[in-house]
Amino acid sequence: MKIVAFETRNDEMAVFAKAAREMNLEMIYIDRPLDSCTLHYIKDCPSISIIGKSVLDESLLAQLSQIGVRFISTRSVGYDHIDVKAANAHGIRVSNTHYGPDGVADYTIMLVLMLLRKYKQAMWRSNVNDYSLVGLQGREMRSLTIGIIGTGSIGASVIQKLTGFGCKIIAHSNSENPLINGIAEYVTLDELYRRADVISFHLPLTEKTFHMVNKASLQKMKSGVILVNCSRGELMNIADVIEAIEMSKIGALGLDVFENEKDIYHHDLRTNIIRNREMAYIRQFPNVILTQHIAFYTHEAVQNMVVSSLRSLVSFVEKGECENEIHSSN
Ligand code: COI
Repeated sequence: MKIVAFETRNDEMAVFAKAAREMNLEMIYIDRPLDSCTLHYIKDCPSISIIGKSVLDESLLAQLSQIGVRFISTRSVGYDHIDVKAANAHGIRVSNTHYGPDGVADYTIMLVLMLLRKYKQAMWRSNVNDYSLVGLQGREMRSLTIGIIGTGSIGASVIQKLTGFGCKIIAHSNSENPLINGIAEYVTLDELYRRADVISFHLPLTEKTFHMVNKASLQKMKSGVILVNCSRGELMNIADVIEAIEMSKIGALGLDVFENEKDIYHHDLRTNIIRNREMAYIRQFPNVILTQHIAFYTHEAVQNMVVSSLRSLVSFVEKGECENEIHSSN
């Protein structure tokens, strides 16, 4: 069986090679995203693996269908870069991956701790031999209420890991996850906004979650609230967030994701002009930590992303079904 894998990175190659050997696959590796310029690499191959920079809209999906693509697996959990409805309408079935939540959950807690302990300022100062204490007083988790929005596998994992810190944990989600029974209290979104000292978002990007952090929702939050987002940048209206930082409504912010990050994050742009004014402005605040969408990036997760994507494609072809299939009604 043949598979064309797009957006391949060097660190994935050994995993791809081993999995391909074990599953008896003929692989074609393209290190660029799948788009109208790289489409021609797919020749007589119904099965494609991509990650998040291949934006599959209706027009590209129509072309993919025409050249015989039938199965697409994204090596990511999020699938907001794929118009699944259009894919299904063009006879293409889509799957995502379910790598373990621990990498992102660990990273989320690291950001919370770095923000609570003002680590960015402390690091800046020590770099210039300023070892003063003034302004660096932090907060302890045990005296805080942490609000987790979204209790799927990542949100639930964050909650489980937080139990060791002695904080009060409240949560909000569309559906309740039994894994957090007894360790977090489910509350309405408004109540979470009202009570939480720290809020972390673990939600997919949908029409409903797009810019859910905005002027109106920020108004409902505590003054000095700490926000962490390791999900999708588009959850936040960044202009409103910037204003809230300027007004000290937001006390600290940790973002591993940023709206329109696609052509910036995971690229070396040291000698380029970056055209994202909000990103440039927000990163200069002493209480804002930006990282380049690396919460997922662990040895364990990368193994899982590759293997699970290939397994999904094999399952589609050999069994006509796949346990990670995404349906357009989802
Ligand atoms: C995801 O798996 O959804 C991520 O955010 C990781 C990224 C490589 C797309």
